[in-house]
Order: sequence, then structure tokens, then C-alpha cells
Amino acid sequence: MNTILVTGGAGFLGSHLCDRLIERGDDVLCVDNFFTGSKQNISHLLSHPNFELLRHDVTFPLYVEVDRIFNLACPASPVHYQRDPVQTTKTSVHGAINMLGLAKRVQARILQASTSEVYGDPQVHPQPESYWGHVNTIGPRSCYDEGKRCAETLFFDYHRQHALEIKVMRIFNTYGPRMHPNDGRVVSNFIVQALKGDDITIYGDGQQTRSFCYVDDLIHGMLRLMDSPAAFTGPVNVGNPNEFTMLELAENVLSLIGGSSKLVFGPLPADDPKQRQPDIALARQALDWAPKVELVDGLKETIGYFKRLFD
Ligand SMILES: NC(=O)c1ccc[n+]([C@@H]2O[C@H](COP(=O)([O-])OP(=O)(O)OC[C@H]3O[C@@H](n4cnc5c(N)ncnc54)[C@H](O)[C@@H]3O)[C@@H](O)[C@H]2O)c1
Repeated sequence: MNTILVTGGAGFLGSHLCDRLIERGDDVLCVDNFFTGSKQNISHLLSHPNFELLRHDVTFPLYVEVDRIFNLACPASPVHYQRDPVQTTKTSVHGAINMLGLAKRVQARILQASTSEVYGDPQVHPQPESYWGHVNTIGPRSCYDEGKRCAETLFFDYHRQHALEIKVMRIFNTYGPRMHPNDGRVVSNFIVQALKGDDITIYGDGQQTRSFCYVDDLIHGMLRLMDSPAAFTGPVNVGNPNEFTMLELAENVLSLIGGSSKLVFGPLPADDPKQRQPDIALARQALDWAPKVELVDGLKETIGYFKRLFD
């Protein structure tokens, strides 16, 4: 049995990861400061003998004995990471330093939940891992984008300098049950608005595209990466390359939920990328991974979750 540390384990992705790890028989230490995570996401695990929860902020050092570390702690949606931008950068940078220090001390393999945001507003489509990105260093999104970029740098320096086993995963837009209802992300926004019968707000003309990965596919890719041969460090893109315009997404959500919501249009936020699509050739080849869940099926699960939440 492996002891696995999941930072940010009470969040959206972290809680699904804890579920999968417990299912396969690992011993899980979930660390979270509950900035955006919730006990509700992991309440079903609290009585499990292999699950332990620790309230802790990763910007402070942590001394525990573990075999593997999944470093997911960091608010992921713009409304949350822009609420306290200094803390966001600290969480990415100090958090990475602390978790890498821990990994070095206990000789643990460590995976970083990086992001497609390291590509900024990309000038290359789709984005391969070799693309260095197009990032504003001083905008409102920079605390997140640059924090994550610096964390990647730290991971590779620990790898080169201390021979640490690292895995860097660049996660693209992911959706599913346990997303925050008010996090401003487009999938949850549209679903919540449609369920409440409110108008659906589309920023810009709705022609900007996104590709959405269902959470089960994403976690499957994350486990594949962690278990990949030591020589494979990434960075590797994990996401779903099927692109949809915001208008198409809104229409899909409306047709599944029904109701009387109308589409209304608002201004685009600063630095909002026009297009974001992963090139997943490396994940296919190195991890034998590709997403399987169709958007409509993932949306049905997610809508079911939000319906239960609001009941
Ligand atoms: N969901 C996505 O589409 C997406 C895309 C790209 C990258 N990611 C990355 O995946 C990770 C998880 O994202 P998520 O969508 O589950 O977000 P989330 O906000 O639901 O989860 C983040 C978790 O980290 C915790 N946290 C934040 N700061 C912390 C700190 N200083 N110390 C301890 N815990 C802290 C939060 O309380 C929360 O439980 C993040 O690192 C995010 O950057 C997510």
C-alpha cells in the first residue's frame, strides 16, 4: 500500500482523485486549507480507514512521511484566484517549494497540477508542450499564470539539481460534479443560470472556443502520468481536444435543461484567450491516454450534480 499526499484534496479535482486512490487501495492524506475546497466534497471519505484529512496551508512547510505527492493546492478559477492574488502566487510558488522540499526529504515522486494557462493567450493552435506561451506578466490573471509557470521551473530545477522524480501535467479546462456553483467558469455558469431560469451570459460574441474535459477522463490521465516510467517527466497536456464555441456550449446546456433562459451578451474580460485547445499527441503516445466521455454525457452528469445541490 502506498501513502499518497494530495494537496488541494478537498477541491473539485482533488476530491475525485482521492476517490480513485481510495478505490484502488491507497492510503490517502488529504491536505487542504479550504480556501475554495469544501468538507462536503470529501465527507463520504472521512470515515474510511485509509483516508486522513489535515487542514494545512501549503505555503507553510509540511513534515509527513509519504511515498507520492499530487500537488493540486491552488484556486483554479479566476474569481477565486483573483480574490487574493498575492496568496495565489504564494500558493503556487511557496507551495511548490514546500512540497518539492518534502518530496526531496522523503524521496517521494511528485506530480504538479499545472495548467494550460501557462500558454497564456496562445498564438499557436492547438498548443503542443513545446510552445513557450504568450503570457502577460502584469495583468489580473498573471498571479495564476506566472505562479504556475514558476512552479514548473521549480519542478524541473529540483529534477535536474536533486534527481527528484517529477511529473508535470498541464491540465486544460475540466468540468464535472463538485465544480463550484459560483466560480465564474463557463460550464458551471451556464448550468446554474439555466437551472435557475436566468438568462445565460455569453462574453464577447460567443465565437471564442474552449475544449472541455470530463473530470473522470482527467483523473484517469493524472493517474497514468503518476504511474508512468520515471524517465517521463512531462510537461504533458491532458485535456479534451474537441472544440466548442461558447454559443454551442450554451445551446447544449439549454437543450439538456430546457426552460425559458435566453442568451445575453456581455463584454470580454481582460486577457481572455480567444481559443484554447490541447494538442494531446504526447499524452496519447507516452501515457496511452485519450479522453472518452462525450460532452453531452459529461454535461448530463454535471447537471445532475447541480440539480441535487440546489434541491
Ligand atoms: N479545473 C480545471 O479546469 C483546472 C485546469 C487547469 C489546472 N487546474 C489545476 O488543478 C488544481 C485543482 O483545481 P480545481 O479545479 O480542483 O480547483 P479547486 O479550487 O476546486 O481546488 C483547489 C484546492 O486547493 C485548496 N487550496 C488553495 N490554496 C491552498 C493552500 N495555500 N494550501 C492548501 N490548500 C489550498 C483549495 O481549498 C481547494 O480545495 C489546481 O492546482 C488548478 O490550478 C485545474
